[in-house]
Amino acid sequence: MKTPVPDYLLEIRNACSVGEDGELASYIPELAAVDPDRFAVSACTLDGVVYTAGDADAEFTIQSMSKPFVYALALRDRGIATVLEKVGVEPSGDAFNEISLEPETGRPENPMINVGAITTHTLVGPPDATEIERDTAVQEGLSAFAGRPLDVDITVLDSELRTAFRNRAMANLVRAGGIIDGDPDEAVRGYTRQCAYRVTVRDLAIMAVTLAAGGVNPVTKERVVSAEVARQVLAVMATCGMYDAAGDWMSTVGIPAKSGVSGGIFGSLPAQVGLGVFSPRLDAHGHSVEGVRAFERMSRDLDLHLM
Ligand code: DON
Repeated sequence: MKTPVPDYLLEIRNACSVGEDGELASYIPELAAVDPDRFAVSACTLDGVVYTAGDADAEFTIQSMSKPFVYALALRDRGIATVLEKVGVEPSGDAFNEISLEPETGRPENPMINVGAITTHTLVGPPDATEIERDTAVQEGLSAFAGRPLDVDITVLDSELRTAFRNRAMANLVRAGGIIDGDPDEAVRGYTRQCAYRVTVRDLAIMAVTLAAGGVNPVTKERVVSAEVARQVLAVMATCGMYDAAGDWMSTVGIPAKSGVSGGIFGSLPAQVGLGVFSPRLDAHGHSVEGVRAFERMSRDLDLHLM
């Protein structure tokens, strides 16, 4: 007998609960205060049916999982060639907060690491966009991917801004290298804000499937980005989305994905499914311990590996 999808997701949730392994992010109090035992799993099909299991209504900040979507918005607004002049597409093999700049050009190696994402943020909207216009374009874009209006967790945003010294340093470096224009502090404010949007695993699965479906949100039916943009984003997620664990992830899980320090991971399997998980204990790479286990298990059980 076949297992219904919600029962299967619950099975994944229960089988992949590993208890005490991993550590909560602790660089801001809000992330350190999250209930460490939360664990939710979600899947959205290409025809827009969403399944969830576990703490599916728990909200958490999107953090680095915003990076592929904001990259998509920058590609939409400026075109692939222009964005490529400013941000590369090579895996850095380093942690997300390393100063991974190409020596010859000064470009960040890719848009998934912090320095690349700060640069990418400045490319949303038209070249003369004000800070507020850019923030609005990001808000509208992320919300279109999710199919509902997303809002910012102001407490997390304020805490992040008080501790964003390293991101500020990197924004100043790319400003000095002529990669970004304008005020580097403005770039960091906007990037930090994009990381502070609140989402659930359900949102993640819908956002993920929108990329997997070639840029059309299957729940709202809205075309958010072109198929060409969606393909570019998926390719960069596949090679760079999991930072210095990208090779390990691609060989074991085989799904283009992105993680965030809040404990979420989403995966977009082209032309098949969007998956989201949330469990806040992190491994040494900053990836959710239980989230990685859930993806490994789903990939194996459902034969989701791309290769
Ligand atoms: O830039 C930062 O430090 C955070 N707001 C986001 C980092 C993040 O999610 C790293 N990914 N695992």
